[in-house]
Amino acid sequence: MFDEFTFSRHDFTTTIKPFDCGDTDINEFFLKDAVDYLRQLLAITYFFENQDRTIVFFSVLNDRISDYDSDKGIFRKIKGKIPHKKHRRSYPAVKVGRFGVDHQFHKQGVGTEVMRFIKQFFISSNMTGCRYITIDAYKQSSGFYKKNGFEFLTSKDQSDKTRAMYFDLMNLVIKL
Ligand SMILES: CC(C)(COP(=O)(O)OP(=O)(O)OC[C@H]1O[C@@H](n2cnc3c(N)ncnc32)[C@H](O)[C@@H]1OP(=O)(O)O)[C@@H](O)C(=O)NCCC(=O)NCCS
Repeated sequence: MFDEFTFSRHDFTTTIKPFDCGDTDINEFFLKDAVDYLRQLLAITYFFENQDRTIVFFSVLNDRISDYDSDKGIFRKIKGKIPHKKHRRSYPAVKVGRFGVDHQFHKQGVGTEVMRFIKQFFISSNMTGCRYITIDAYKQSSGFYKKNGFEFLTSKDQSDKTRAMYFDLMNLVIKL
């Protein structure tokens, strides 16, 4: 996949190619708002494109996982994987704030491939400590994130539009 498409970081001069992931808010973020988030240092957006279309984009921002946002048992499980001397009430994370695959490329493994890429990106090329990837997943997309190894942070948001989910990057480091 990475041989076929060009990878870029959104900047102030980027010309965006057509994109439609089927979700109006996510489309609008990529096509209109991403540059403003960049200007305000609030999120950075990356994308893959071919000659005609944007295939997939994601935007990322700093985040944390804390005992405040998680169910007690879940945070205990998270802490259980960290050496006792390094136990804290919160741990550094990166949030995938927006994520979308163009509808012409849905269900072809593109989302999974790019999620794998993001995980590696924050293990090997990150400039600051970052242990987890977090996401506020649309309920209808939470199945996709589960398949990609994400877990729920709390049961308190069960009836909300989005569910807070996390992935422990250490899962991959151990396997390397
Ligand atoms: C959700 C999204 C990113 C998935 O991308 P994708 O490239 O179609 O996903 P993949 O082809 O890699 O799918 C991987 C697996 O997840 C499953 N899957 C994909 N979308 C799913 C969904 N919405 N719900 C449940 N499972 C889903 C696939 O069936 C596949 O399962 P399989 O391995 O058993 O065949 C894409 O559908 C999209 O852009 N949706 C609109 C925007 C959106 O909802 N973004 C997420 C915001 S939180």
